[in-house]
Amino acid sequence: MALFAGTEATKRLLDPFSGLGSLLPRLVRVGHEVRALDINPIAVAFVELRRPDYIRQLPEIRKALEASLARCSDIVQHGVGRFEQAWVTAEIAEWLREYREAVLRVTGTRSEDLTEGSVARALAFLPLLAARELTTFSASDNASWVKAGGLVRPTDPKVALKRIATAWAGYLETTYTGNVRGTLTAACQDARTLKADEEYEGVLFSPPYANRLDYLRMLAPEAVILQLVGGVDVRSVERHVVGTNIVRGSVPDKIAIGRLPRSVREALRTIRSDAAKASATYYYPFFANYSVGLFNAVGNVARALAKSGKGIAFVRDTPRKDVLFPTADTVIGALRAAGCRVQARPTVVRHHIGMRRKRGHVSLQGLAQREWRISFERI
Ligand SMILES: C[S@@+](CC[C@H](N)C(=O)[O-])C[C@H]1O[C@@H](n2cnc3c(N)ncnc32)[C@H](O)[C@@H]1O
Repeated sequence: MALFAGTEATKRLLDPFSGLGSLLPRLVRVGHEVRALDINPIAVAFVELRRPDYIRQLPEIRKALEASLARCSDIVQHGVGRFEQAWVTAEIAEWLREYREAVLRVTGTRSEDLTEGSVARALAFLPLLAARELTTFSASDNASWVKAGGLVRPTDPKVALKRIATAWAGYLETTYTGNVRGTLTAACQDARTLKADEEYEGVLFSPPYANRLDYLRMLAPEAVILQLVGGVDVRSVERHVVGTNIVRGSVPDKIAIGRLPRSVREALRTIRSDAAKASATYYYPFFANYSVGLFNAVGNVARALAKSGKGIAFVRDTPRKDVLFPTADTVIGALRAAGCRVQARPTVVRHHIGMRRKRGHVSLQGLAQREWRISFERI
């Protein structure tokens, strides 16, 4: 971050795995033109809501929100306190469809014209910020993802949306003060399809981890809302995510594996030959697909840099039994293969060690991680 945070001149920067983009406004504030990409449409919608140009449009957005809400029914949740098996109750789902129609009508927009940066799009995406209030869900054993179903709460979507709109406006106004020169744009794209001629002056990224966490599942309530207000089926990208859990016995070919750095190939061999259950049928294909996907994606990201363009990556090595899987080596290998000079000794910025409590049993497994900062330059 510091690599670009202090620069005076405006730069065209790319974050190809932006996630929710929480750190990007810092770069926009100092004047950069930041492009955020992610394969997950929920992540992209969240980044879009951080656009600084929405500040100017706030008065118009507030007015259109009032008018849209006035067109929506007042709903009373039936059966408050009852257990609902679905992600949303029928009433909330119907209300969200009504809200979407109202937004389109009030702003005079056709659904196919919900363009990036428009008032209509901000209003359509706002319910995402209230997803945890609008859905019913319960935490799973694995605290980072959630399951469908939970107690019906006495949610009033009009109140929830007004509150979230106020919080969002407050976020924008405190994040961007004064005259912001920078820009933030976002799009849904697989990093493996980036073109070599993009000529970014800088890239920064934190790629997916090989920890078998399903990012789409972690954002499941948001996915349901996005489907209802945006008509987007998030599950359709699942198999294209780097680090997807959909393995089905598929393994990349030998040529693709052969391009990976030696330490990665050795780690893959150890994982495959382990006697533990599913080592060869699930874990090996998972890590092999992950490594090849990441290698190809990072190669394309590096080639999207202009000559002398600089980059920084934050990468985590995550464990599979006794192997601390060398993801940083995959990234470094891909950067070098794509013509980048990588800093001589990348630095470990943190060792993460945590404990997981599962049904009374405390274990360290899966939680010892090593985080690297890797800087590089296109030559
Ligand atoms: C570790 S997260 C990024 C976190 C982010 N830097 C933040 O601060 O929120 C990795 C992201 O990569 C995305 N991703 C996975 N596969 C991808 C692909 N093939 N192309 C682009 N993005 C992908 C995931 O959806 C996820 O949001």
